[in-house]
Order: sequence, then C-alpha cells, then structure tokens
Amino acid sequence: MSADLDIILKKYKSGKREDLIPLLQEIQEYVGYLSEEAIVKVGSFLGLSTTKIYGLATFYDRFRFIPNGKIRIIICNGTSCFLNGSQSNIDKIREETGIQPGQTTRDGNFSYEIVSCMGGCHNGPVINVNGEFHTHIKAEQLPELIRKLKYVIEND
Ligand code: FES
Repeated sequence: MSADLDIILKKYKSGKREDLIPLLQEIQEYVGYLSEEAIVKVGSFLGLSTTKIYGLATFYDRFRFIPNGKIRIIICNGTSCFLNGSQSNIDKIREETGIQPGQTTRDGNFSYEIVSCMGGCHNGPVINVNGEFHTHIKAEQLPELIRKLKYVIEND
C-alpha cells in the first residue's frame, strides 16, 4: 500500500494544506479506506498533525478508517429510492449484518454504506454489491441475498 500512497502523493504539492480533503478522497477511492499509515504519511507530506487530520476527516462521514468487507454493499437512499422504500432495505441490511453504515463485520465479510444517488432512479430502490447493481430491490429479498453472499465467501 505504501507504493500506492507514494504514487498518489506525487500528484500533489508538499505542504499545500488545502489539498488535504481531495488527497484523502483520492486515497480512499484507490485503497478503500484511510489507514493509520496513510494518515501519518499525509500528515508529514502536508505538515499537519495526525490529530488534526483525524479531526477533519471524521467531520466528513464519507471517510472510512477500517477496510471494507469482502462484500461491500452500497445502498441508495436518494429521493427516488427513498420514495420506493429504500429505508426498509437499510433497516433489513442493518438487521442481517448487525452493523451500522460505514462499519465492517468482525469477520471482515460485510460492510455497507448509504449514498444519495447512484443514477438509476427509475429502477429504484437500487443497491450495489461489489460493483454489481441490483434494481427494484425489496427488503424481503435481502436475507436470501445475504445468505447467498455468505455461502460464496465461505466456499471461495
Ligand atoms: S435516488 Fe437512488 S438511484 Fe437515484
């Protein structure tokens, strides 16, 4: 991961503090989360303390500090999906996984997050599982989906 971080850092100018948020975003997009190593490196690159970086990053709920699960579920809760019942999907995923959005299950198998639109509003509610879109999803379909995904992980 260190090499990946170095490549990303090369695109930015050392000491330019206004680059902090775009830099953290880019690291998260590339690596999937902000590790302690990444925070320390960014701190010394921009001349900021790790405390300051954690303070700023935790202010934005889009940043993650733990790796995603093997199965990463993204649930849309944008207006259109919400009107079609996305809240029930969120409740069901929470119930099935036992975690909150942005967390990862202890076994590292599942994580999920909520976004405001995935561009498929006419097919909502929409969820995305490891890059694959599922449309018109209803809460009652989710336990079966989670069971299948668990089976895939356990037999991989
Ligand atoms: S609101 Fe869910 S895809 Fe647009």
